[in-house]
Amino acid sequence: MLDLAADPAAELARYREIEASDTAYRAGFDWSASWRHLEKRLSEGALREMGFTGFDGAALIGRMIRWIDRFDYPCAFADPRLGDLEAAALAADRGGLAGLGLDPGGFDLAAVARYTAQDIFFQRLAVATSGNDRCETVLDFGAGHGRLFDHWVRRARFAFATDAMPGPYLAQRLWAQALGLSINDYIDDPGQFSPRPGVLNHLPAWRLDLLRTGAFDAVFAIQVLREVSKPMLAYTVAEFARLLRPGGRLYIRDHIGFHNVNAGDLDALLKATGFVLEWRPHVIDRRDIHGVPRIWRRADAAVTLGGLV
Ligand SMILES: C[S@@+](CC[C@H](N)C(=O)[O-])C[C@H]1O[C@@H](n2cnc3c(N)ncnc32)[C@H](O)[C@@H]1O
Repeated sequence: MLDLAADPAAELARYREIEASDTAYRAGFDWSASWRHLEKRLSEGALREMGFTGFDGAALIGRMIRWIDRFDYPCAFADPRLGDLEAAALAADRGGLAGLGLDPGGFDLAAVARYTAQDIFFQRLAVATSGNDRCETVLDFGAGHGRLFDHWVRRARFAFATDAMPGPYLAQRLWAQALGLSINDYIDDPGQFSPRPGVLNHLPAWRLDLLRTGAFDAVFAIQVLREVSKPMLAYTVAEFARLLRPGGRLYIRDHIGFHNVNAGDLDALLKATGFVLEWRPHVIDRRDIHGVPRIWRRADAAVTLGGLV
């Protein structure tokens, strides 16, 4: 079991040591510098106070939640399930912050819970409970501080999260502990990492090779694909196509028409990589919703041909 009081500097040193020794898996990328949005903002003199390249424990989680709670998260969708998801997210966040010794009253947790509830609602949209439409093995790619963990680690059979920045990676590890979740973390024993059910399986983004081809029902990529470099974007989308089973869903939520840091044509790339768009609501970003949610599917020939294969 991990120690909530673990020394953040020692955790960071361990992460850095593993990152440096994992040279064989880097696929030519400098992963610590792969978050183009951060690199750009740092070069403009912004975001330094966030400390994403370091790790100072609970304080970083506090700053990351503060980064989220400044928006309102309007929602043009009316569904009673949103209220239940919001209440659950609020309770989990309150508990997690208290566990870390941070004052839950110091944040607009209602806003964070709205945001999280919306994602979970969209991610679960019309998932059939049987057949080839299950949602039991999920991957949160670029998971922030771990906003979605409480829901998915408790409900998915196999829940995974990945990141490539030391601060967010170690924040996720700490947040999972604060939520009372069990964690199976690559950085605890890189040579022995093997997925386990009922826990948070946590691994750096450069080790997606450890995950089985076609094993995933869903991959979540919220506010990340437009923020990495163009080559990293292409690499990542190809990995999503490899990891998802035919028909598996790729849930993307980000801004449309602005904040496209890598200037990539994401829709064209997804189509060229074998994804088909299943759902995109007819809403206006930042008026009706904060970041437009979409569900893409890895094309399934059986579905395309009406079950004739
Ligand atoms: C804007 S945050 C979004 C966080 C989270 N998805 C959410 O919605 O709360 C972007 C996240 O992507 C991560 N990230 C940046 N570059 C990455 C990469 N190459 N691979 C995986 N994650 C990356 C960052 O560390 C951060 O956790």
